[in-house]
Amino acid sequence: MFHSVIKGVGHYVPERVVTNEELTHYMDTTDEWIQERTGIKERRFFKEGVDTVSSMAAKAAHLALERAEMEASELELIVFATLSPDYAFPGSGVLLQRELGLTNIPALDIRQQCAGFIYALSVADQFIKTGMYKTALVVGSEIQSNIMELSNRGRNVSVIFGDGAGAAVLKVSTEKGKGILSTHLHADGTHAEELVMMHPGSNKQKRITSKMLEDGSMLPFMNGQMVFKNAVQRFPEVINEALKHHNLSTTDLDLLIPHQANLRISEFIQKSMKLREDQVFNNIQKYGNTTAASIPIAMSEAYEQGKIKTNDLLCLAAFGSGFVWASALVRW
Ligand code: UT7
Repeated sequence: MFHSVIKGVGHYVPERVVTNEELTHYMDTTDEWIQERTGIKERRFFKEGVDTVSSMAAKAAHLALERAEMEASELELIVFATLSPDYAFPGSGVLLQRELGLTNIPALDIRQQCAGFIYALSVADQFIKTGMYKTALVVGSEIQSNIMELSNRGRNVSVIFGDGAGAAVLKVSTEKGKGILSTHLHADGTHAEELVMMHPGSNKQKRITSKMLEDGSMLPFMNGQMVFKNAVQRFPEVINEALKHHNLSTTDLDLLIPHQANLRISEFIQKSMKLREDQVFNNIQKYGNTTAASIPIAMSEAYEQGKIKTNDLLCLAAFGSGFVWASALVRW
């Protein structure tokens, strides 16, 4: 029986640090409000002409490949998760492929927002399990600072989100009980418009009008309280589902890496699931919510900090726009 092991993880964040204090110059907000509600102290914003979604992904991928002791030429599949692709089409997967100097392996994009990386991991894992591919590169990369407006309009969105990229290199293995043990994917489109960027979409006769620019409908919209309520329900549900699937419990877990949506959400999960503080990894304080990139960035940082060791049991979990939610259980 084939399954996937994570051979290497890497990340890249743009150089430009944007503090909460800087945001107070653009909108009515305060460092206290942002930290109290979200735990975020600063985030990174991309530099035009330097960072693109695919170039950041390539930097994260190179680090992941180096840690996996593999060459890009050994990759057989690219799965790219993002809500902020370089172009409307083609997807960023092919652009990353080009950046890596590859010309003939499949590359696909996943549009599952905050759960994008786990969905992407699951897709790559299925291809490896069936024996179709032996290696895969899974990335999450986002440039969100240029789709938000730094003004009072939508300030609940623009103080939360940031830019960055993370990557994982998967390789086939036959060693039992190691690597990706299972993935658990869910979606419910009932509330699709509660966290949404509607335009430029295809459901209007004109994809972009001056009215859309003026009335803010080209900006992301988030019903924060509703998203929060659903997140704190779905996270524990999907984490427990993964553990139960293997007859494991929270005490078996070495590290939970939740999607970095809001530090208060992570703290709620930790307390309600009776996890110790050191069982939950958070870095949202430094990067804000980087959507599909947040889990691989966190995994890469946890690895660098020696918080992921051989044989550790890791749970990745996410909830976001769609609504979509997912988890993955990994034996490192
Ligand atoms: O990645 C997954 C997707 N996202 C999430 O998981 C986010 C989930 N939701 C949240 O994290 C929270 O709902 C937020 C942090 C976004 C907002 O916190 P909240 O406690 O739900 O605030 P609220 O939206 O209910 O707004 C409370 C007040 C409002 O003022 P009034 O009406 O009470 O006078 C807002 O206008 O805070 C105001 N407000 C702000 N004030 C200062 C909203 N944004 C800001 C801001 N600075 N940036």
